[in-house]
Amino acid sequence: MKSLPRLMSALVLFSATHVMAAGLPTVEVYKSPSCGCCTLWVEHMQQSGFKVNVHNVRDVTPMRANAGVPDAMGSCHTALVGGYAIEGHVPAADVKRLLRERPKATGIAVPGMVQGSPGMEQGGRKDPYSVILFNKGGRSFVFARH
Ligand code: CU
Ligand code: CU
Repeated sequence: MKSLPRLMSALVLFSATHVMAAGLPTVEVYKSPSCGCCTLWVEHMQQSGFKVNVHNVRDVTPMRANAGVPDAMGSCHTALVGGYAIEGHVPAADVKRLLRERPKATGIAVPGMVQGSPGMEQGGRKDPYSVILFNKGGRSFVFARH
């Protein structure tokens, strides 16, 4: 029976990797039907392994407010995933990190429309930007720099 603990840990490891592979939560995206960069961001998320449900809405502002995104963090689309709000052109890798680390926060945002962020690639221009972790109280922190 010496091998039982090893077998148990192998099983735990197996189920952990299994959850990681199959368990990316679905992303619910709220965007304007005419917004091209939103669609490109949706494709970026899909290419990174997320299942995405797109909701075309005439005005994303009420959705953004409901999700607890501060006005100053606003961009062109608001997404909900795993209990977090994702505002704007946030790289999928940062969303995955958020879901892995699960900090106590409302969500993350790339405010505005940054040239060179996922879905905003135009030519070779790449402006530096930060991904901001925010909560409803208005407190915010730098989550990642690109
Ligand atoms: Cu955009
Ligand atoms: Cu957008």
